[in-house]
This record gives sequence, C-alpha cells and structure tokens, in this order.
Amino acid sequence: MNTKRFLVLLFSLLALAPAALPAAMVNVNAGQPGAPVNPAMWGVFFEDINFGADGGLYAELVKNRGFEFPEALMGWNKLSPAKAKGEVSVRNEGAFNAKNPHYVRVQSEGTDLLGVGNEGFRGIGLRAGEAYDFSVRVRVVAGTPKLTVRVYGGDGTVLDSIELKDFTGDWQKYSATLHPTETSAKSWLAVLVDGKGTLDLDFVSLFPQKTWKNRAGGLRADMVQALADMHPGFLRFPGGCIVEGSILARRYQWKNTLGPIEERPLLINRWNYEFLHRPAPDYFQSFGLGFFEYFQLCEDIGASPLPILNCGMACQFNSAELCPPEELNSYIQDALDLIEFANGTVTSPWGAKRAALGHPAPFNMKLLGVGNEQWGQQYIDRYAKFAEVLKARHPEVALVSAAGPSPDDDRFKFLWPKLRELHADIVDEHSYAKPAWFLDNAHRYDSYDRNGPKVFMGEYAAQSDYTVSVKNRNNFECALAEAAFLTGLERNADVVRMASYAPLFAHVDAWQWTPNLIWTDNLRTVRTANYHVQSLFAHNRGDRILAVGLSDLSPAEEKRFYASSTLDEASGQVILKLVNATVHESRTTVNLVGVGHLKGGTLTLLQADSQLAENTFDAPERVAPRTTAFAPAGTKFDLTLPANSLTIVRVGVAK
Ligand code: AHR
Repeated sequence: MNTKRFLVLLFSLLALAPAALPAAMVNVNAGQPGAPVNPAMWGVFFEDINFGADGGLYAELVKNRGFEFPEALMGWNKLSPAKAKGEVSVRNEGAFNAKNPHYVRVQSEGTDLLGVGNEGFRGIGLRAGEAYDFSVRVRVVAGTPKLTVRVYGGDGTVLDSIELKDFTGDWQKYSATLHPTETSAKSWLAVLVDGKGTLDLDFVSLFPQKTWKNRAGGLRADMVQALADMHPGFLRFPGGCIVEGSILARRYQWKNTLGPIEERPLLINRWNYEFLHRPAPDYFQSFGLGFFEYFQLCEDIGASPLPILNCGMACQFNSAELCPPEELNSYIQDALDLIEFANGTVTSPWGAKRAALGHPAPFNMKLLGVGNEQWGQQYIDRYAKFAEVLKARHPEVALVSAAGPSPDDDRFKFLWPKLRELHADIVDEHSYAKPAWFLDNAHRYDSYDRNGPKVFMGEYAAQSDYTVSVKNRNNFECALAEAAFLTGLERNADVVRMASYAPLFAHVDAWQWTPNLIWTDNLRTVRTANYHVQSLFAHNRGDRILAVGLSDLSPAEEKRFYASSTLDEASGQVILKLVNATVHESRTTVNLVGVGHLKGGTLTLLQADSQLAENTFDAPERVAPRTTAFAPAGTKFDLTLPANSLTIVRVGVAK
C-alpha cells in the first residue's frame, strides 16, 4: 500500500469514522499516440467441434443425407406402420454418383406408406411461416409409386406434407418446398413411398431458404450474424485439432472440400471419439462448409482469412504420427496451392478453380498457419521447411507458427527460442487456464521482445473448473478475467497482433468441449458474457496505443485493477478500458494528458449481478453491455467503477 493511502486509512480508523480514500489515478498520455493497433486484432477461431459446422453453421438439416456414414442408416429410422408390407435396404450398385455410393431402396407392397425418417442433428429446427427447400435423388426400380415427404413436430403433429411423383428409371434430382405450420426445435423428416413399387433414394436434403444472404445450401443466418456482430478482424479456420487429425489419414485436407457437395468425401470428425466422457458417434464432417464457403464468409463479414494447414503432423495428443520427410513436399504444395486458390490470377490453375466457383476476384489472403498445436523438434524441422519455400515464393503471406498447447510449459519454452532463431512471423499461443491465470498474466507481454516474432493469442478461454472439465461455465468471473487479460494484449498491441477466444460454437445437446463463445440450439443462439467482452474490445479497438499510468491504487486495486487505452483516429476519440476486478467499487480519477479539451462521448459498462452469472436461452441478456452518453467537464474527471466490472470510456479530444 502506498504511504498516502496507508495514512488516510490509519487516521480514518483511529477516528472511527468513515473517510474517503483518494481516488485511483489513471493517467492517459493522449497527446502522444504510440504504436499502431492491428486493424485485424480481435478475431474469430472456428472449428467443427460441438456441432459447430455440421449441425451448426452449415444449415443442412438432414444428418447423413447421403447414407455414407459407416452405419449407413445412422440418423435414419425405417418407418413402417403395422399395415405396411415391403422392405427398406441399403444398396450401393449403380449409385447416382460414384463418390456417394450408398443409397436406400424402398420396396413397397403399397399397403401403407413405407420409408425412412431423419432425426436431424439432435432434432430439426423449423420455424412457422418460413420456407424449407427439400431435395432428393430418386430412381424408379419398379412400378409408379409416389413419394410423400412430411415434417413432424416434436410432439408428432404433421407440420407440412408434400407429394413428389413421375420418377424415371434414371437418377434425377427432385425438389419441393415445405412450409411448417408450427415452430419446433425438435422436428423430424419423413420420406415415404406411397403405392406399390420400388424406389431408390439418395442425398436427401432439407435447407431453410432463409440462410445467410439467402444462399441456397448456405449457412445458418443467426449464427453468421453473431459472428458479423463481433466485427471480427480475422477468421481462423478450420481449427483447432481438426486440422491435425488423430492420424494423418484423418487430417483436414482443404482440396477435398471444394466442388459439388455430393462429391466431397465424408470424414469422421475427430471429436466423434476424442472424449470417452462425451462421445458423439454421429459426428462426421460433410464439408458443406468447405474452403470456398470459408473464404466467402470471411469476405461477407469483413474478416481477413487465416487458414491453418496440417504440417505433416497428426495430433500429438493422439497418434503423433509424422509424415515421412520425403512426403512433406506434398503438404507444402497444398499450402502453395491454397495461396494460389485464394489469391492467384484467374489464369493460374487454382485461381481458375476459384473463378469457376463464382469468385474471379482474389480473396486477399495474407496469413497462413503452419500446423495447429504442435510441439517438439519435429515441428521446428517441418516449420523450417514450410517457411523456406513459402517465404521465397510468397513473402506477402505472414506465417503463423505453433507454440504448443500451453502458454508456459517446457514445450512452449523449447519452441519460442527456436522460432525466434528462424525469424518466425507470428507465434500462436494458447491458454486454457483458471480465471486467476488471466488476471495474473495481464502484464505477460510487457516484457516481450519488441524485435522478435509477433504474438497471436490464438486460443484463449478462462476455465471455471479445469481444461476439458465438463463443469466449466461461461460465467461472468471468467469473462471479466479475460477482459483484464485483453487490456494487457491491447497495451502491448505492438507485439500482440491478434487474439481469438476458443472454441467458438457449441450446440447445447451435442457439445464435447466447454466453455464456448456462443451456444446454440436448433433455432437460437446465446451470446455469452465472454462474447460480449471480446466483442467490446473489437468494437472499441482504436488505431494507436496510448500509454496509461496507474497510481494511488488501494491494496486490492494494486492486484486487480487494469487499464488500457487507444486513440481512434477516424472519430478522434480516446478509448479507455478499465477493469475493476476487486470486490469493492473503485473511485477513479482519469486524467487525459496532452489534450486541450474533451467532447462528449459514451460510457459502456459490463457487469453482472453475480460472478456466477451466465447468459442462457431463458435469460440471454443477463450479462450484456449498457452504453450511455458521457460528457466529462474537463480533461480530468472522476468515475465510480462498480465492483467486478468492465468500463469503456470513449471521449472526443481536441488540442
Ligand atoms: O478449442 C478446442 C481445442 O483446444 C482445439 O481444437 C485445440 O487447438 C486446443 O487443444
């Protein structure tokens, strides 16, 4: 405790009368803007975990639409009422597409409807008043039966029913639109043969017409909106461990994700079997959200693409399989081809493929990750080979290198000096730790080498219990600790160039990992307190760092009071972020040094009624920022910061 405070406290105790402590001083040097803040500083980490893509962002409502899961009828039921006579079987001769070999044959005696029903991804979310595009490949084997297609609500009510007919002996695609009469998050779909005869059925699909930008076969609009609302500077994709695969044969291969969706090879999702305590046997990657859709999404929401590619290493938590050195070139070639696919001219082989998919203009990719969460000399050897080729051919693309899964263990300490020697561009640090770690590490980057590689805090999330515990909560205590940490990233924005929370999405009925930034069910999204923290930093980024000095702090504030500041050049506003993570309100005096006078602005407050407060589907706004107008009288002004709160002040400044 400083002497002044100690004496005031002593005298007030002696007098047995309450006395006001001097306010904590926050001096902001607004007259001398420092290093620039990366415009793409605050971004998004996307991985197909927790049903983030299939069953999530990718709006397809039918699970296992092509009958290509190893158990061909997983997700499907045979629907055969008591009076129905006939047979439902899985076949693979004469498929409509050799890359999608399995289909269902329904042979019906015509005594009743007979067919298959799909359960969706933990149900199908349908909204009354909205339209849904149904499609199916059909071939007649015998007779002239029709097809009845129905959607049922969770309670068994028929929500809509349509009929398809006039099929031929050749595979054809048939489409129709369904209009459910009620909203239901737990609907299901039935495809039923009506009449005597035999039909082959494949690639059964149901999509909302209302997707993001109303693209047919597109992305779930509410989920993309939640991303767009964050103003993300970048979009990291496709992960995460999913990049690596548990074995190399199951790694993510971007070239498999282009072209007609029925030809994109299905892959078992590594989160299908990763956690014995959270198995998801029906979790597969259809790649409907593939690399073209990814680049398009980046463009839509104004985020710089940041793809992460496999570097010849499978997940080191799993097999740790390494590709033989002589095969590494094919991995490096994949990286070169990806750069050409994103940025190449339309006359280049991969640029032409991009143009053929409808996007002749380049996607302007400037970042590329080499490996996800790798470690050891084997990573350094591989990174060096990638860097040698990529830097020579594409110096305009900054490379992101791995620093292992922990922010401070032996693997991390081994990698950093090696990466520095290799003049790595940006090092990807990950931290899943207790809230106290985030509070204690707000000054972590103050002492980082200003001349070495830059930092990407590529995966961070405070864990209320412990990493991979199913008890972790997205509570306010975690969010506030993250806010304190983010002030440290912002103060050091000359070194820390980017940051993203991880994981991003989680389906309430299908998650493997918690906590997550955004929770979903089949119809809704919930933005967590953690979402609001990162979103507030992104919306209030600023362009140049302003130096902040703290003094006259109480003992509690010495430990748990945080501040950072930036200048927003376009609006001419100083932005000040203050985190009071003590249990008392904090009387604070802010002194903006180096400016003549202030104009009005705003004050945004994020606080909660409890440290355990969470946003839920029933109370989605329990923790949400509130912004009010704010007009301080002079360049020195007082604020009262509530206990456990994040306050963001924006004020215009003039000389
Ligand atoms: O975010 C979940 C997982 O955590 C990521 O896939 C991986 O990179 C990290 O271990």
